[in-house]
Amino acid sequence: MIAVLALMLFYRPRYVHSAAVPQNSTDRLALIDFKQAITGDPREFFNSWNNSVDYCNWNGVTCSKTHLGRVRELNLAGQSLEGRISPSLGNLTLLKILDLASNSLSGQLPDLNRLRKLQILVLKFNNLQGLAPNALKNCSSLKLLNIGGNMLAGSIPPELGFLYNLSALNLASNSFTGVIPSSLGNITQLEYLFLYNNQLEGNIPTELGQSAKLFQLNLGENRLSGSIPTTLLNHSSLAVLDVNTNFLLMELPSTIGNTLPRLYGLGLNNNMFQRQIPASLGNSSNLSIILLTSNNFTGQVPSSLGNLSLLQRLELSDNQLQGAIP
Ligand SMILES: *[C@@H]1O[C@H](CO)[C@@H](O)[C@H](O)[C@H]1NC(C)=O
Ligand SMILES: *[C@@H]1O[C@H](CO)[C@@H](O)[C@H](O)[C@H]1NC(C)=O
Ligand SMILES: *[C@@H]1O[C@H](CO)[C@@H](O)[C@H](O)[C@H]1NC(C)=O
Ligand SMILES: *[C@@H]1O[C@H](CO)[C@@H](O)[C@H](O)[C@H]1NC(C)=O
Ligand SMILES: *[C@@H]1O[C@H](CO)[C@@H](O)[C@H](O)[C@H]1NC(C)=O
Ligand SMILES: *[C@@H]1O[C@H](CO)[C@@H](O)[C@H](O)[C@H]1NC(C)=O
Ligand SMILES: *[C@@H]1O[C@H](CO)[C@@H](O)[C@H](O)[C@H]1NC(C)=O
Ligand SMILES: *[C@@H]1O[C@H](CO)[C@@H](O)[C@H](O)[C@H]1NC(C)=O
Ligand SMILES: *[C@@H]1O[C@H](CO)[C@@H](O)[C@H](O)[C@H]1NC(C)=O
Ligand SMILES: *[C@@H]1O[C@H](CO)[C@@H](O)[C@H](O)[C@H]1NC(C)=O
Ligand SMILES: *[C@@H]1O[C@H](CO)[C@@H](O)[C@H](O)[C@H]1NC(C)=O
Repeated sequence: MIAVLALMLFYRPRYVHSAAVPQNSTDRLALIDFKQAITGDPREFFNSWNNSVDYCNWNGVTCSKTHLGRVRELNLAGQSLEGRISPSLGNLTLLKILDLASNSLSGQLPDLNRLRKLQILVLKFNNLQGLAPNALKNCSSLKLLNIGGNMLAGSIPPELGFLYNLSALNLASNSFTGVIPSSLGNITQLEYLFLYNNQLEGNIPTELGQSAKLFQLNLGENRLSGSIPTTLLNHSSLAVLDVNTNFLLMELPSTIGNTLPRLYGLGLNNNMFQRQIPASLGNSSNLSIILLTSNNFTGQVPSSLGNLSLLQRLELSDNQLQGAIP
Protein backbone atom coordinates (compact mmCIF):
# COMPACT_ATOMS: atom_id res chain seq x y z
CA MET A 1 0.00 0.00 0.00
CA ILE A 2 2.73 2.45 1.03
CA ALA A 3 4.74 1.47 -2.01
CA VAL A 4 1.79 2.23 -4.25
CA LEU A 5 1.27 5.58 -2.55
CA ALA A 6 4.91 6.45 -2.91
CA LEU A 7 4.76 5.57 -6.58
CA MET A 8 1.71 7.79 -7.02
CA LEU A 9 3.43 10.65 -5.25
CA PHE A 10 6.57 10.56 -7.30
CA TYR A 11 5.12 9.43 -10.58
CA ARG A 12 4.27 12.59 -12.44
CA PRO A 13 2.85 11.73 -15.83
CA ARG A 14 4.37 14.09 -18.33
CA TYR A 15 3.92 13.62 -22.02
CA VAL A 16 1.87 10.71 -23.20
CA HIS A 17 3.64 10.78 -26.55
CA SER A 18 6.99 11.99 -25.30
CA ALA A 19 8.83 9.18 -27.05
CA ALA A 20 7.33 9.95 -30.44
CA VAL A 21 6.98 13.74 -30.47
CA PRO A 22 9.91 16.01 -29.62
CA GLN A 23 8.62 18.56 -27.14
CA ASN A 24 9.58 22.20 -27.11
CA SER A 25 9.36 23.06 -23.46
CA THR A 26 9.47 26.79 -24.23
CA ASP A 27 6.10 26.54 -25.93
CA ARG A 28 4.70 24.30 -23.17
CA LEU A 29 5.80 26.71 -20.44
CA ALA A 30 4.30 29.62 -22.34
CA LEU A 31 0.94 27.84 -22.53
CA ILE A 32 1.02 27.00 -18.81
CA ASP A 33 1.76 30.64 -18.04
CA PHE A 34 -1.10 31.67 -20.28
CA LYS A 35 -3.48 29.34 -18.44
CA GLN A 36 -2.32 30.65 -15.04
CA ALA A 37 -3.28 34.22 -15.97
CA ILE A 38 -6.85 33.09 -16.70
CA THR A 39 -8.94 33.55 -13.56
CA GLY A 40 -12.33 32.47 -14.83
CA ASP A 41 -13.10 29.42 -16.99
CA PRO A 42 -16.82 28.71 -16.53
CA ARG A 43 -16.98 26.18 -19.35
CA GLU A 44 -13.96 24.25 -18.05
CA PHE A 45 -12.19 24.79 -21.33
CA PHE A 46 -8.83 24.24 -19.65
CA ASN A 47 -9.63 20.82 -18.18
CA SER A 48 -7.69 19.12 -20.93
CA TRP A 49 -4.66 21.33 -20.25
CA ASN A 50 -3.18 18.79 -17.86
CA ASN A 51 -0.02 16.72 -17.66
CA SER A 52 -1.60 13.51 -18.90
CA VAL A 53 -2.34 15.07 -22.25
CA ASP A 54 0.33 16.13 -24.76
CA TYR A 55 0.07 19.93 -24.96
CA CYS A 56 -0.34 19.71 -28.72
CA ASN A 57 -3.66 18.01 -27.98
CA TRP A 58 -4.86 20.55 -25.43
CA ASN A 59 -8.17 22.21 -26.26
CA GLY A 60 -7.64 25.00 -28.78
CA VAL A 61 -3.95 24.22 -29.40
CA THR A 62 -2.70 23.18 -32.83
CA CYS A 63 0.96 22.37 -33.35
CA SER A 64 3.03 22.70 -36.49
CA LYS A 65 3.29 19.66 -38.75
CA THR A 66 6.81 20.53 -39.82
CA HIS A 67 8.25 21.82 -36.52
CA LEU A 68 7.21 19.15 -34.04
CA GLY A 69 6.10 20.43 -30.70
CA ARG A 70 5.85 24.05 -31.83
CA VAL A 71 2.47 25.73 -31.40
CA ARG A 72 1.12 27.09 -34.68
CA GLU A 73 -2.42 28.04 -33.71
CA LEU A 74 -4.25 28.97 -30.53
CA ASN A 75 -8.02 29.26 -30.81
CA LEU A 76 -9.87 30.02 -27.58
CA ALA A 77 -12.68 32.09 -29.03
CA GLY A 78 -16.05 32.31 -27.30
CA GLN A 79 -15.15 30.44 -24.10
CA SER A 80 -16.20 33.14 -21.59
CA LEU A 81 -12.66 33.25 -20.24
CA GLU A 82 -11.77 35.91 -17.67
CA GLY A 83 -8.39 37.25 -16.69
CA ARG A 84 -5.41 38.70 -18.45
CA ILE A 85 -3.38 37.76 -21.49
CA SER A 86 -0.01 36.49 -20.28
CA PRO A 87 3.08 38.10 -21.85
CA SER A 88 4.39 34.55 -22.25
CA LEU A 89 2.32 34.25 -25.41
CA GLY A 90 5.12 36.33 -26.89
CA ASN A 91 7.33 33.22 -26.57
CA LEU A 92 5.26 31.13 -29.00
CA THR A 93 7.50 32.28 -31.81
CA LEU A 94 6.00 30.05 -34.52
CA LEU A 95 2.41 31.10 -33.80
CA LYS A 96 0.49 31.88 -36.98
CA ILE A 97 -3.06 32.28 -35.70
CA LEU A 98 -4.16 33.66 -32.32
CA ASP A 99 -7.90 33.90 -31.78
CA LEU A 100 -9.15 34.95 -28.34
CA ALA A 101 -12.33 36.62 -29.57
CA SER A 102 -15.51 36.93 -27.49
CA ASN A 103 -14.16 36.33 -24.00
CA SER A 104 -13.86 38.69 -21.04
CA LEU A 105 -10.13 39.22 -21.12
CA SER A 106 -8.96 42.49 -19.63
CA GLY A 107 -5.79 44.49 -19.05
CA GLN A 108 -3.15 45.32 -21.57
CA LEU A 109 -2.34 43.49 -24.77
CA PRO A 110 1.15 42.17 -23.95
CA ASP A 111 4.23 42.62 -26.07
CA LEU A 112 3.91 40.14 -28.95
CA ASN A 113 6.85 41.54 -30.84
CA ARG A 114 8.64 38.25 -31.27
CA LEU A 115 5.73 36.68 -33.15
CA ARG A 116 7.13 37.34 -36.59
CA LYS A 117 5.08 34.53 -38.13
CA LEU A 118 1.77 35.74 -36.73
CA GLN A 119 -0.71 36.27 -39.58
CA ILE A 120 -4.05 36.44 -37.83
CA LEU A 121 -4.70 38.13 -34.49
CA VAL A 122 -8.31 38.28 -33.36
CA LEU A 123 -9.09 39.82 -29.97
CA LYS A 124 -12.49 41.30 -30.78
CA PHE A 125 -15.19 41.48 -28.10
CA ASN A 126 -13.12 41.44 -24.92
CA ASN A 127 -12.46 44.09 -22.27
CA LEU A 128 -8.91 44.98 -23.19
CA GLN A 129 -7.90 48.40 -21.93
CA GLY A 130 -4.45 48.99 -23.34
CA LEU A 131 -2.51 48.63 -26.56
CA ALA A 132 1.15 49.60 -26.17
CA PRO A 133 2.53 51.40 -29.24
CA ASN A 134 5.22 48.80 -29.86
CA ALA A 135 3.33 45.66 -28.84
CA LEU A 136 2.96 44.51 -32.45
CA LYS A 137 5.63 46.53 -34.19
CA ASN A 138 7.67 43.56 -35.39
CA CYS A 139 4.73 41.33 -36.30
CA SER A 140 5.47 41.93 -39.96
CA SER A 141 3.51 38.91 -41.19
CA LEU A 142 0.20 40.13 -39.78
CA LYS A 143 -2.55 40.06 -42.38
CA LEU A 144 -5.61 40.42 -40.15
CA LEU A 145 -5.75 42.42 -36.92
CA ASN A 146 -9.12 42.66 -35.23
CA ILE A 147 -9.31 44.34 -31.80
CA GLY A 148 -12.81 45.73 -32.31
CA GLY A 149 -15.25 45.83 -29.40
CA ASN A 150 -12.84 46.36 -26.51
CA MET A 151 -12.19 49.27 -24.15
CA LEU A 152 -9.07 50.61 -25.77
CA ALA A 153 -8.54 54.30 -25.10
CA GLY A 154 -5.93 56.90 -25.98
CA SER A 155 -4.70 57.45 -29.47
CA ILE A 156 -4.34 54.85 -32.20
CA PRO A 157 -0.63 53.93 -32.23
CA PRO A 158 0.94 55.33 -35.42
CA GLU A 159 3.27 52.31 -35.26
CA LEU A 160 0.47 50.18 -36.72
CA GLY A 161 1.54 51.77 -40.01
CA PHE A 162 4.59 49.49 -39.95
CA LEU A 163 2.38 46.44 -40.45
CA TYR A 164 2.75 46.63 -44.20
CA ASN A 165 1.15 43.26 -44.89
CA LEU A 166 -2.13 43.94 -43.13
CA SER A 167 -5.12 43.52 -45.38
CA ALA A 168 -7.71 44.05 -42.63
CA LEU A 169 -7.47 46.36 -39.62
CA ASN A 170 -10.43 46.59 -37.25
CA LEU A 171 -10.24 48.94 -34.25
CA ALA A 172 -13.96 49.72 -34.25
CA SER A 173 -16.14 50.12 -31.15
CA ASN A 174 -13.43 51.14 -28.71
CA SER A 175 -12.77 54.49 -27.03
CA PHE A 176 -9.90 55.73 -29.17
CA THR A 177 -9.43 59.50 -29.18
CA GLY A 178 -7.17 61.83 -31.13
CA VAL A 179 -6.60 61.80 -34.85
CA ILE A 180 -6.41 58.97 -37.35
CA PRO A 181 -2.66 58.42 -37.84
CA SER A 182 -1.61 59.23 -41.38
CA SER A 183 0.86 56.33 -41.19
CA LEU A 184 -2.05 53.93 -41.78
CA GLY A 185 -1.79 55.04 -45.40
CA ASN A 186 1.58 53.24 -45.52
CA ILE A 187 -0.14 49.88 -45.28
CA THR A 188 -0.06 49.13 -48.97
CA GLN A 189 -2.00 45.86 -48.73
CA LEU A 190 -4.88 47.33 -46.73
CA GLU A 191 -8.33 46.39 -48.02
CA TYR A 192 -10.55 46.76 -44.95
CA LEU A 193 -10.20 49.62 -42.47
CA PHE A 194 -12.80 49.78 -39.70
CA LEU A 195 -12.44 52.61 -37.19
CA TYR A 196 -16.14 53.27 -36.57
CA ASN A 197 -17.67 53.96 -33.17
CA ASN A 198 -14.73 55.62 -31.44
CA GLN A 199 -14.11 59.25 -30.49
CA LEU A 200 -11.68 60.12 -33.25
CA GLU A 201 -11.41 63.75 -34.27
CA GLY A 202 -9.63 65.97 -36.76
CA ASN A 203 -9.46 65.49 -40.50
CA ILE A 204 -9.50 62.24 -42.44
CA PRO A 205 -5.86 61.92 -43.52
CA THR A 206 -5.22 62.28 -47.25
CA GLU A 207 -2.68 59.46 -46.95
CA LEU A 208 -5.42 56.84 -46.50
CA GLY A 209 -5.94 57.11 -50.25
CA GLN A 210 -2.44 55.70 -50.78
CA SER A 211 -3.63 52.20 -49.94
CA ALA A 212 -4.37 51.26 -53.51
CA LYS A 213 -6.33 48.14 -52.62
CA LEU A 214 -8.66 49.83 -50.14
CA PHE A 215 -12.07 48.19 -50.53
CA GLN A 216 -14.08 49.06 -47.41
CA LEU A 217 -13.52 52.17 -45.33
CA ASN A 218 -15.76 52.67 -42.32
CA LEU A 219 -15.05 55.74 -40.19
CA GLY A 220 -18.61 56.25 -38.96
CA GLU A 221 -19.69 57.38 -35.49
CA ASN A 222 -16.70 59.52 -34.58
CA ARG A 223 -16.06 63.27 -34.33
CA LEU A 224 -14.27 63.74 -37.61
CA SER A 225 -14.42 67.15 -39.24
CA GLY A 226 -13.32 68.76 -42.47
CA SER A 227 -13.92 67.01 -45.76
CA ILE A 228 -13.33 63.63 -47.36
CA PRO A 229 -9.95 63.94 -49.10
CA THR A 230 -9.98 63.77 -52.90
CA THR A 231 -7.57 60.83 -52.74
CA LEU A 232 -10.47 58.81 -51.32
CA LEU A 233 -13.08 60.29 -53.64
CA ASN A 234 -10.91 59.27 -56.53
CA HIS A 235 -10.16 55.69 -55.63
CA SER A 236 -10.71 53.01 -58.20
CA SER A 237 -11.00 50.07 -55.78
CA LEU A 238 -13.22 51.59 -53.07
CA ALA A 239 -16.55 49.75 -52.70
CA VAL A 240 -17.75 50.96 -49.30
CA LEU A 241 -17.27 54.50 -48.06
CA ASP A 242 -19.05 54.96 -44.75
CA VAL A 243 -18.42 58.15 -42.76
CA ASN A 244 -21.84 58.40 -41.10
CA THR A 245 -22.37 60.44 -37.92
CA ASN A 246 -19.42 62.81 -37.91
CA PHE A 247 -19.03 66.57 -38.42
CA LEU A 248 -17.96 66.49 -42.06
CA LEU A 249 -18.77 69.69 -43.93
CA MET A 250 -18.30 69.74 -47.68
CA GLU A 251 -19.85 69.75 -51.10
CA LEU A 252 -19.52 66.47 -53.01
CA PRO A 253 -17.46 66.82 -56.21
CA SER A 254 -19.67 66.63 -59.29
CA THR A 255 -17.56 63.78 -60.68
CA ILE A 256 -17.83 61.46 -57.66
CA GLY A 257 -19.80 58.78 -59.50
CA ASN A 258 -17.20 58.66 -62.24
CA THR A 259 -14.16 58.61 -59.94
CA LEU A 260 -15.58 55.91 -57.63
CA PRO A 261 -16.61 53.38 -60.28
CA ARG A 262 -16.78 50.38 -57.93
CA LEU A 263 -18.85 51.96 -55.19
CA TYR A 264 -21.42 49.63 -53.62
CA GLY A 265 -22.31 51.51 -50.42
CA LEU A 266 -22.09 55.23 -49.64
CA GLY A 267 -22.90 56.26 -46.06
CA LEU A 268 -22.80 60.01 -45.50
CA ASN A 269 -25.79 60.29 -43.15
CA ASN A 270 -25.67 62.53 -40.06
CA ASN A 271 -23.07 65.03 -41.22
CA MET A 272 -23.16 68.50 -42.75
CA PHE A 273 -22.81 67.74 -46.46
CA GLN A 274 -24.02 70.63 -48.57
CA ARG A 275 -25.44 71.58 -51.95
CA GLN A 276 -26.26 69.21 -54.80
CA ILE A 277 -26.36 65.44 -54.85
CA PRO A 278 -24.14 64.87 -57.91
CA ALA A 279 -25.89 63.43 -60.96
CA SER A 280 -22.78 61.39 -61.69
CA LEU A 281 -23.72 58.97 -58.91
CA GLY A 282 -26.03 57.44 -61.50
CA ASN A 283 -22.89 56.33 -63.35
CA SER A 284 -21.52 54.24 -60.48
CA SER A 285 -23.45 51.21 -61.59
CA ASN A 286 -22.81 48.97 -58.57
CA LEU A 287 -24.29 51.41 -56.09
CA SER A 288 -26.78 49.54 -53.91
CA ILE A 289 -26.92 51.58 -50.71
CA ILE A 290 -26.96 55.38 -50.57
CA LEU A 291 -27.52 56.90 -47.13
CA LEU A 292 -27.68 60.70 -47.13
CA THR A 293 -30.15 61.31 -44.28
CA SER A 294 -29.64 64.32 -41.98
CA ASN A 295 -27.38 66.55 -43.98
CA ASN A 296 -27.83 69.85 -45.75
CA PHE A 297 -28.21 68.65 -49.33
CA THR A 298 -30.22 71.04 -51.47
CA GLY A 299 -31.68 71.13 -54.95
CA GLN A 300 -33.25 68.30 -56.91
CA VAL A 301 -32.63 64.61 -56.45
CA PRO A 302 -30.88 63.75 -59.73
CA SER A 303 -32.98 61.62 -62.04
CA SER A 304 -29.84 59.65 -62.98
CA LEU A 305 -30.25 57.71 -59.71
CA GLY A 306 -33.11 55.99 -61.50
CA ASN A 307 -30.43 54.31 -63.62
CA LEU A 308 -28.99 52.42 -60.68
CA SER A 309 -30.48 48.99 -61.26
CA LEU A 310 -28.94 47.46 -58.12
CA LEU A 311 -30.15 50.17 -55.75
CA GLN A 312 -31.71 48.67 -52.59
CA ARG A 313 -31.67 51.54 -50.10
CA LEU A 314 -31.86 55.24 -50.84
CA GLU A 315 -32.31 57.36 -47.72
CA LEU A 316 -32.62 61.11 -48.22
CA SER A 317 -34.80 62.41 -45.39
CA ASP A 318 -33.92 65.39 -43.23
CA ASN A 319 -32.26 67.46 -45.96
CA GLN A 320 -33.44 70.44 -47.96
CA LEU A 321 -34.16 68.60 -51.17
CA GLN A 322 -36.88 69.50 -53.66
CA GLY A 323 -38.85 67.59 -56.22
CA ALA A 324 -39.64 63.95 -56.69
CA ILE A 325 -37.43 60.99 -55.89
CA PRO A 326 -36.72 59.09 -59.14
C1 LIG B 1 11.98 25.86 -28.53
O1 LIG B 1 12.03 26.62 -29.72
C2 LIG B 1 12.63 27.88 -29.55
C3 LIG B 1 12.54 28.63 -30.87
O2 LIG B 1 13.04 27.86 -31.91
C4 LIG B 1 14.07 27.70 -29.15
O3 LIG B 1 14.66 28.97 -28.94
C5 LIG B 1 14.11 26.92 -27.85
O4 LIG B 1 15.44 26.65 -27.50
C6 LIG B 1 13.37 25.59 -28.01
N1 LIG B 1 13.30 24.96 -26.71
C7 LIG B 1 13.59 23.70 -26.55
C8 LIG B 1 13.52 23.20 -25.15
O5 LIG B 1 13.88 22.96 -27.47
C1 LIG C 1 9.69 33.72 -22.25
O1 LIG C 1 10.92 34.11 -22.82
C2 LIG C 1 11.65 34.96 -21.98
C3 LIG C 1 12.85 35.43 -22.75
O2 LIG C 1 13.43 34.40 -23.49
C4 LIG C 1 12.02 34.22 -20.72
O3 LIG C 1 12.70 35.06 -19.84
C5 LIG C 1 10.73 33.74 -20.03
O4 LIG C 1 11.03 32.94 -18.91
C6 LIG C 1 9.90 32.93 -20.98
N1 LIG C 1 8.64 32.61 -20.37
C7 LIG C 1 8.19 31.38 -20.31
C8 LIG C 1 6.91 31.17 -19.62
O5 LIG C 1 8.79 30.45 -20.82
C1 LIG D 1 -6.89 15.62 -18.47
O1 LIG D 1 -7.61 15.93 -19.65
C2 LIG D 1 -8.27 14.83 -20.21
C3 LIG D 1 -8.88 15.26 -21.52
O2 LIG D 1 -9.79 16.33 -21.34
C4 LIG D 1 -9.34 14.31 -19.23
O3 LIG D 1 -9.96 13.18 -19.79
C5 LIG D 1 -8.65 13.95 -17.92
O4 LIG D 1 -9.63 13.59 -16.97
C6 LIG D 1 -7.84 15.10 -17.39
N1 LIG D 1 -7.05 14.66 -16.24
C7 LIG D 1 -7.04 15.34 -15.12
C8 LIG D 1 -6.17 14.81 -14.05
O5 LIG D 1 -7.71 16.34 -14.96
C1 LIG E 1 12.08 44.54 -33.66
O1 LIG E 1 13.08 43.77 -34.26
C2 LIG E 1 14.31 44.44 -34.37
C3 LIG E 1 15.25 43.58 -35.19
O2 LIG E 1 15.27 42.28 -34.71
C4 LIG E 1 14.82 44.68 -32.96
O3 LIG E 1 16.07 45.36 -33.02
C5 LIG E 1 13.83 45.57 -32.23
O4 LIG E 1 14.22 45.74 -30.89
C6 LIG E 1 12.45 44.95 -32.27
N1 LIG E 1 11.50 45.95 -31.79
C7 LIG E 1 10.79 45.77 -30.71
C8 LIG E 1 9.88 46.89 -30.34
O5 LIG E 1 10.85 44.75 -30.07
C1 LIG F 1 5.46 41.68 -45.98
O1 LIG F 1 5.57 42.71 -46.95
C2 LIG F 1 6.88 42.92 -47.41
C3 LIG F 1 6.90 44.14 -48.29
O2 LIG F 1 5.66 44.40 -48.89
C4 LIG F 1 7.35 41.67 -48.11
O3 LIG F 1 8.67 41.85 -48.56
C5 LIG F 1 7.32 40.52 -47.12
O4 LIG F 1 7.64 39.32 -47.75
C6 LIG F 1 5.95 40.36 -46.51
N1 LIG F 1 6.03 39.40 -45.46
C7 LIG F 1 5.16 38.42 -45.35
C8 LIG F 1 5.39 37.47 -44.24
O5 LIG F 1 4.20 38.31 -46.09
C1 LIG G 1 5.15 56.25 -43.94
O1 LIG G 1 5.84 56.37 -45.17
C2 LIG G 1 6.46 57.62 -45.35
C3 LIG G 1 7.01 57.67 -46.74
O2 LIG G 1 7.58 56.46 -47.09
C4 LIG G 1 7.52 57.80 -44.28
O3 LIG G 1 8.11 59.05 -44.40
C5 LIG G 1 6.87 57.67 -42.91
O4 LIG G 1 7.85 57.73 -41.91
C6 LIG G 1 6.12 56.39 -42.80
N1 LIG G 1 5.45 56.36 -41.56
C7 LIG G 1 5.37 55.27 -40.84
C8 LIG G 1 4.71 55.40 -39.51
O5 LIG G 1 5.79 54.21 -41.21
C1 LIG H 1 -8.43 61.81 -59.97
O1 LIG H 1 -7.47 60.98 -60.60
C2 LIG H 1 -7.23 61.37 -61.95
C3 LIG H 1 -6.34 60.33 -62.58
O2 LIG H 1 -5.40 59.85 -61.67
C4 LIG H 1 -6.63 62.76 -61.95
O3 LIG H 1 -6.41 63.16 -63.27
C5 LIG H 1 -7.60 63.73 -61.27
O4 LIG H 1 -7.02 65.00 -61.18
C6 LIG H 1 -7.98 63.25 -59.91
N1 LIG H 1 -9.03 64.07 -59.39
C7 LIG H 1 -9.02 64.52 -58.16
C8 LIG H 1 -10.20 65.33 -57.76
O5 LIG H 1 -8.11 64.27 -57.38
C1 LIG I 1 -19.71 45.23 -59.33
O1 LIG I 1 -19.76 44.19 -58.34
C2 LIG I 1 -19.45 42.92 -58.85
C3 LIG I 1 -19.63 41.91 -57.75
O2 LIG I 1 -20.35 42.40 -56.70
C4 LIG I 1 -18.04 42.93 -59.34
O3 LIG I 1 -17.71 41.67 -59.85
C5 LIG I 1 -17.86 43.99 -60.38
O4 LIG I 1 -16.52 44.06 -60.77
C6 LIG I 1 -18.30 45.33 -59.89
N1 LIG I 1 -18.27 46.32 -60.92
C7 LIG I 1 -17.48 47.37 -60.88
C8 LIG I 1 -17.58 48.34 -62.01
O5 LIG I 1 -16.72 47.53 -59.97
C1 LIG J 1 -21.70 59.50 -66.95
O1 LIG J 1 -20.79 58.77 -67.74
C2 LIG J 1 -20.79 59.14 -69.10
C3 LIG J 1 -19.90 58.20 -69.84
O2 LIG J 1 -18.67 58.09 -69.25
C4 LIG J 1 -20.37 60.60 -69.24
O3 LIG J 1 -20.38 61.00 -70.58
C5 LIG J 1 -21.29 61.46 -68.41
O4 LIG J 1 -20.83 62.81 -68.43
C6 LIG J 1 -21.38 60.98 -67.00
N1 LIG J 1 -22.39 61.69 -66.27
C7 LIG J 1 -22.11 62.56 -65.32
C8 LIG J 1 -23.27 63.25 -64.71
O5 LIG J 1 -20.98 62.76 -64.93
C1 LIG K 1 -27.35 74.70 -45.34
O1 LIG K 1 -26.84 75.20 -46.53
C2 LIG K 1 -27.30 76.52 -46.82
C3 LIG K 1 -26.85 76.90 -48.22
O2 LIG K 1 -25.82 76.10 -48.69
C4 LIG K 1 -26.73 77.42 -45.77
O3 LIG K 1 -27.18 78.73 -45.98
C5 LIG K 1 -27.22 76.96 -44.40
O4 LIG K 1 -26.61 77.72 -43.40
C6 LIG K 1 -26.86 75.51 -44.19
N1 LIG K 1 -27.47 75.06 -42.97
C7 LIG K 1 -26.80 74.31 -42.09
C8 LIG K 1 -27.58 73.89 -40.89
O5 LIG K 1 -25.63 73.99 -42.23
C1 LIG L 1 -29.44 56.56 -67.87
O1 LIG L 1 -28.61 55.71 -68.64
C2 LIG L 1 -28.80 55.85 -70.04
C3 LIG L 1 -27.97 54.78 -70.73
O2 LIG L 1 -26.64 54.81 -70.27
C4 LIG L 1 -28.42 57.25 -70.46
O3 LIG L 1 -28.64 57.42 -71.84
C5 LIG L 1 -29.27 58.26 -69.70
O4 LIG L 1 -28.83 59.57 -69.98
C6 LIG L 1 -29.15 58.01 -68.20
N1 LIG L 1 -30.08 58.84 -67.52
C7 LIG L 1 -29.71 59.81 -66.72
C8 LIG L 1 -30.80 60.62 -66.10
O5 LIG L 1 -28.53 60.01 -66.46
